[in-house]
Amino acid sequence: MQRIISAVLALVLAAPAVAEGENVSINPPAEGSVSTEEGLSAFMRVYEVASHPRCSNCHVGADNRPMWSGPSYGETRPHGMNIIAGESRIGAESVLCSTCHAYNEGANDGPHMAPQVAMNWQLAPVEAEWFGKTAVEVCNQLRDPERNGGRDFMEIASHLDHDLILHWAWNPGGGREPAPYSLQEHVDDVLAWGVAGYPCENDE
Ligand code: HEC
Ligand code: HEC
Repeated sequence: MQRIISAVLALVLAAPAVAEGENVSINPPAEGSVSTEEGLSAFMRVYEVASHPRCSNCHVGADNRPMWSGPSYGETRPHGMNIIAGESRIGAESVLCSTCHAYNEGANDGPHMAPQVAMNWQLAPVEAEWFGKTAVEVCNQLRDPERNGGRDFMEIASHLDHDLILHWAWNPGGGREPAPYSLQEHVDDVLAWGVAGYPCENDE
């Protein structure tokens, strides 16, 4: 029995590691406690994150081209080496993303090396196109279940915590600029926006 327990424990401990202290709590504010105005400011902070290079470089549109942008890249341009993700969004049609972005926890974090996480590296779904999009556009996409993977704000928040790519975005290494605020603050902002009723600036 002892053996089985330690074997199970070993497996649990070996599970994709989110470093200690990085887990976030998901505590939505009480219903009715967030005004529309507060919800809108929470969304503007969500947008600062979504439009940041650590997020938007992968959240690109139907040309299926990952982007290289942000201070560590100098000029904004499509991914070098003519990398195109294809409709598969993983490069199945040409060169797989995993050729360089191998499934490898927290490794390869030197300057200009291909980031690696313990998760499949691939473009976000085309519906979640954020690169170059305005706050109103991202706001309407994120509250639309048809275009956000069918998630409500609680599900968006827990997706944010469980996604190792996001933990990477706040701790990217290699001289890359981390996404603004913190993962916890970002989750709190998503929750506040949701509780406020998902206001967007173009609402009547
Ligand atoms: C390496 C590429 C990559 C990066 C970088 C990335 N994402 Fe994503 N994102 C994805 C993929 C792939 C999915 C689809 C996963 C799924 O639906 O389970 C996704 C889905 C999402 C979703 C689900 C909702 C929707 O509209 O589809 C949210 C929210 C999200 N990402 C937020 C972020 C934020 C915030 C950042 C930056 C802090 C970020 N992502 C950076 C690849 C990326
Ligand atoms: C031949 C190797 C190679 C392949 C294949 C490759 N990448 Fe990359 N990728 C890199 C390197 C190297 C960097 C970092 C360049 C730098 O920092 O100057 C990078 C960076 C990125 C970034 C920017 C991350 C950031 O800093 O915000 C994204 C997004 C990205 N790759 C997506 C993809 C996707 C999606 C695929 C598959 C369609 C892919 N890559 C295939 C080598 C590769």
